[in-house]
Amino acid sequence: MTIDFHYLRHPMEKKKEIVMSGIRPTGFLHLGNYFGAIRNYVKMQEEFECYFMVADLHSLTTHPDTKELKANVHRVLAENIACGLDPDKVALYCQSHVHETAELYLYLNMLAYKGELEKTTTFKDKVRLNPQNVNAGLLTYPVLMTADIILHRASYVPVGKDQEQHLEMARTFANRFNHRYGEVFPEPQAFNFNQELIKVPSLDGAGKMSKSENQMATLYLADEDEMIRKKVMKAKTDSGPTEPDSPKPDYIENIFLLMKLVSSADVMQKFEADYNNCSIRYGDMKKQLAEDMVQFIAPIRNNVDAILNDEKGLKQIMEQGAEKANKSAHTTMKLVREAIGLKYY
Ligand code: TYM
Repeated sequence: MTIDFHYLRHPMEKKKEIVMSGIRPTGFLHLGNYFGAIRNYVKMQEEFECYFMVADLHSLTTHPDTKELKANVHRVLAENIACGLDPDKVALYCQSHVHETAELYLYLNMLAYKGELEKTTTFKDKVRLNPQNVNAGLLTYPVLMTADIILHRASYVPVGKDQEQHLEMARTFANRFNHRYGEVFPEPQAFNFNQELIKVPSLDGAGKMSKSENQMATLYLADEDEMIRKKVMKAKTDSGPTEPDSPKPDYIENIFLLMKLVSSADVMQKFEADYNNCSIRYGDMKKQLAEDMVQFIAPIRNNVDAILNDEKGLKQIMEQGAEKANKSAHTTMKLVREAIGLKYY
């Protein structure tokens, strides 16, 4: 008998490290989602074992009306794929298709204390924005997120800066489980290739780009060219510096930051130099930024429709993703139940 050794893993070959992340289906994806998360998903898919999901259960904490849910779930999947994510290389799935997430969430809820959950910044923000819907799911949002991550025993979680606190909490809950019941989980870390986590600012100089707030100050991956130009040209500027090498006000810093994401190094250098010698013309800078944004967004936008129109293809992708994610979840949950002591025969 001949054996094809090509298919056998060498005993010294390192097992791939595990990566997990998610995006809520609460609207169109934007530049913040791309640079904070999806860009890294695409880079990581080659070398890591990746689990990326649409966080549909999380969206129920703030969006109880589910009329748009199906369309939004399809859009998040299609936009991820249009950005270069390959469903054959990663597990791309919906959170609600992996039922053991809910079971792990329940166990972790016994390890999460009301006081620490109430201190979460996103919880406090959401209570302020929507005081009539302060539900228990909102309070335990970071617990569900921990369940998503550690269900696959992931070590790395590519996310933007706004998720940093949730990741700290995920580490706390994973460690607490390990101390109470025995080592099952690695400590998950927020990941951006050894760099600071990213916050893509909004165009109005206030806060970050967001799926549902400040839509005219957010650049969506679905925006038409003219809309991109219009939004960029409206970005807040002033009459320019009067002293050489002045510090930049926040709203100007933001424009430079956006330019750094999509423009070439030459272009950046030119406008930095113009700023430092007080000859900068913000109108020209915004025109350049608008054109570079159009070049960046248009190919992604143009890919999305074909993917969205292929409902059968999307169904297949979701099924294939769920199968991979469920396989990993079963393995972890067997260890979890045993560690807790939920095994009586
Ligand atoms: P969500 O849907 O708000 O955002 C998805 C991803 O996009 C990043 N992001 C940004 N990054 C930089 N600048 C911005 N302006 C910006 N806006 C959004 C977010 O950091 C995130 O990486 N709780 C998560 C979803 C989630 C999850 C998980 C993430 C559920 N389970 C498990 C990681 C692991 C959320 O609401 O992301």
